[in-house]
Amino acid sequence: MAARSTVIYGDPVLRETCDPVEEVNREIKDLVSDLIGTLIEAKGLGLAAPQIGVTKRVFIVDISAADINAKITAFINPEIIETSKEEAEFEEGCLSFPGLYRNIYRPAKVKVRATDLEGNQFELDADGIMARAILHEYDHLDGKLFIDRMSPLTRTMLAGRLKKMREVS
Ligand code: NI
Repeated sequence: MAARSTVIYGDPVLRETCDPVEEVNREIKDLVSDLIGTLIEAKGLGLAAPQIGVTKRVFIVDISAADINAKITAFINPEIIETSKEEAEFEEGCLSFPGLYRNIYRPAKVKVRATDLEGNQFELDADGIMARAILHEYDHLDGKLFIDRMSPLTRTMLAGRLKKMREVS
């Protein structure tokens, strides 16, 4: 388990559509291990493979900061099966946007299917912070970022700050 550096907004890898995982082999297990090491060091709620520069459909979620019984969960080839019509507003951040936090609307609940580290499929119904983290990380696999979900007004207000981030990265 090694902490890798997190890719910051402006790096084109964050806009790529990630490739499905064909087999849960050593390479994928090492990838998940590195994601975990990186997430723990960065103290985030979730991390997707492209955020460490790997364009594979893999992300991890760790909501243990909010729920001490929660375990780190790896999602390989996740599919969003269902989302609730009801939306919720939560403050979100993203490790690829240091220091940027904004309220974002997303579905309040989600049903997701994915493969685990043993290669077995599982389904999960999530709400609250877990649903939020899953939907945020899932977006990363399609090259979508939380700024895309902000209102046009918010994005206009953030334009200067985002430009600076792109220039530094
Ligand atoms: Ni993110």
